[in-house]
Amino acid sequence: MNIAVIGTGYVGLVAGSCFAESGNDVWCVDNDAAKIENLKKGVIPIYEPGLPEIIERNVREERLKFTTDLDTAVKKSFVIFVAVGTPPQPNGAADLRFVFDVAASVGRAMDRYKVIVVKSTVPVGTSEQVRKILKENTSHPFDLLSNPEFLKQGAAVEDFMKPDRVIVGADDVRPGEILRDLYAPFVRTGSPVLVVDVRTAEMLKYAANAFLAARISFMNEIANLCEEVGANADMIRKGLASDSRIGPAFLFPGVGFGGSCFPKDIKALIDVGKQHQYDMKILEAVDAVNQCQPLRFVEKVRSHFKGGLRDKRVGVWGLAFKPRTNDMRDAPAIKIIESLIADGATVTAYDPEAMNEAKRIFGGRLQLAASNYGCVEGADALLIVTEWQAFRHPNFERMKTIMRDPVIFDGRNIFDPVQLRELGFTYHSVGRS
Ligand SMILES: NC(=O)c1ccc[n+]([C@@H]2O[C@H](COP(=O)([O-])OP(=O)(O)OC[C@H]3O[C@@H](n4cnc5c(N)ncnc54)[C@H](O)[C@@H]3O)[C@@H](O)[C@H]2O)c1
Repeated sequence: MNIAVIGTGYVGLVAGSCFAESGNDVWCVDNDAAKIENLKKGVIPIYEPGLPEIIERNVREERLKFTTDLDTAVKKSFVIFVAVGTPPQPNGAADLRFVFDVAASVGRAMDRYKVIVVKSTVPVGTSEQVRKILKENTSHPFDLLSNPEFLKQGAAVEDFMKPDRVIVGADDVRPGEILRDLYAPFVRTGSPVLVVDVRTAEMLKYAANAFLAARISFMNEIANLCEEVGANADMIRKGLASDSRIGPAFLFPGVGFGGSCFPKDIKALIDVGKQHQYDMKILEAVDAVNQCQPLRFVEKVRSHFKGGLRDKRVGVWGLAFKPRTNDMRDAPAIKIIESLIADGATVTAYDPEAMNEAKRIFGGRLQLAASNYGCVEGADALLIVTEWQAFRHPNFERMKTIMRDPVIFDGRNIFDPVQLRELGFTYHSVGRS
């Protein structure tokens, strides 16, 4: 199949590359000329395990091309995916400008029947607006589908290649079958392709993210109370996870969720509720708990340094919103570091992949170390903000010799409190008093 994927970001680049990997001819389109130039030279703009190899192979075998020329890509393609960003507006509603701009451009470029698929996460009813824009810009026939994406950054290739399920929103049987056919190589082990109406598909994506975000905020709230009452949130997590009705995923207490999806998607769903005079009470609470969680972590640091943070040197391990990505969009690390700097602390950070992002966000206000040990040299405290594997078994003896004070605030509960205290560290974590 000839495919165009418009928007070559975390979703579009993975989707386009994986469609090429299953034999299709794919044009990845972006209006960011520098990004496309780099991709043409083999420079991948994101860190995503397994992706460079797939891109390299499919470019070499001429199934995958990068271009800023949307017009040509649309003319050459039968199926066109829209995978541009839907960032939050100040009031929380999804900003659909990029989706609508692309819809108009696709309409203008069409020269015959096409299947157009909205992959971006969009509020219920958006695809109908896209259909209207397409009709205003073309007289050629088309079918419009919704195909929300569920990949997880850090495991995006694996998730795309072996999805738990594929959701196809189609108001007609035939175009739905085209997508079912396109996804057939990825669901050979029996994962369902669920064909639903377009509005249900749009809503389903938000429901999934809202539910996962709710589990995290729920667990954080339980952990916060554990600190007050002297219970152990880790054991509670294990006890909950072993209940087959609950299961283990998304129950780790920490410094709150971030990234480009959960925070914006719950706000967008709350906004959809408002537009329909429905108050999304649970999601308001999920958001409120999440806003407070990184600040609660900073409060622990403040109450340890009773004299304030001025003149204190703080090391931070982990900047990306989660491990195995370089993405810092809405990362808890940003809020935490901003608060520490505002309190007068000198902050030095290390992250295996997000250093360039951190440079872009903080400029000279944040010092960056070349390694996790360099980051804690002369530090009065270490804060663990992202649970990269490489942080889990450090050389504690070495840390004790290079830190000014062996104090650790573990925002991801990666260490054992008993062991750390035996080693001579002052150790604070989440929900384990
Ligand atoms: N990141 C994730 O893990 C994830 C997972 C599932 C769904 N989603 C959803 O997928 C969508 C895309 O997310 P992302 O993280 O890939 O975003 P992104 O910001 O990484 O990428 C979007 C890309 O679209 C490009 N773009 C914008 N306007 C364009 C135009 N007119 N023509 C061509 N290109 C244009 C931008 O330059 C950018 O490269 C969002 O709706 C998001 O909510 C994201």
